Amino acid sequence: MSDQPKVDSGKRTWLIASSCAGVVGGVAAAVPFVASFAPSERARAAGAPVEVDVSALKPGEMMTVEWRGKPVWIVRRTPQQLASLPKLDPQLADPKSERKPDELTPEYARNEHRSIKPEYLVAVGICSHLGCSPTEKFQPGAQPSLPDDWAGGFLCPCHGSTFDMAGRVFKNKPAPDNLEVPPHTYLADGRLLIGEDKKA
Ligand code: FES
Repeated sequence: MSDQPKVDSGKRTWLIASSCAGVVGGVAAAVPFVASFAPSERARAAGAPVEVDVSALKPGEMMTVEWRGKPVWIVRRTPQQLASLPKLDPQLADPKSERKPDELTPEYARNEHRSIKPEYLVAVGICSHLGCSPTEKFQPGAQPSLPDDWAGGFLCPCHGSTFDMAGRVFKNKPAPDNLEVPPHTYLADGRLLIGEDKKA
C-alpha cells in the first residue's frame, strides 16, 4: 500500500496494523469491498468528524473510511448475519459489551448488534491485542484458521483473534476486548457522521 500510514496518538498505530496485514497480503476475501479514504486533508488533520455516504452499500458489503488516522469499518449486515449474533453469546468474551464501555461501546451501541441501526456495524478496524487490522471473513463455514461452525466475522491475522459480525471478540483469544465502536450518528438516512454523536 502506498499511503503513508497515519500514526495514532494512542498506544496503537495503524502503522502496526498495516505491517501485520501485509503478512497476509493476497488473502483478500471474496466479499465486495469498497475502500473510501477520502475525507478532506483539513478534516483529517484536525481529527474532525467524517461524513460518509453509506447509501450505496449493499447487504453483505463493507467500506472503510479513515477517521483520526484509524480505519473505520462500516458493514451492512445481512439478515442472516444479524440472526447469528444472539446465538454466539456463550462463545464470546464480552457479549454484552460491558467492558470499558466509555472507551469501546457508546451507550447507544450497547445492544446485541452493537449499533444504532441493526443493519449497520460501525467499528474501528484495529485489534484490541496489539493493533493489527483484522481481515473480513464474512463467508460462513469451515475454512483455514476458523472453526467449522464459523458464522462470519473477522480474523486478526497476527495472532488469530476472532470477532463476530458485531466486532465482539471470541473467548480464549489473545485480544482482550471487543472492537471499538466510535462515536457516530446518522444525519439522515444513508448519511453517517463518524466522530461525533448526538448528545441528549
Ligand atoms: S494483534 Fe490481533 S491477535 Fe494479536
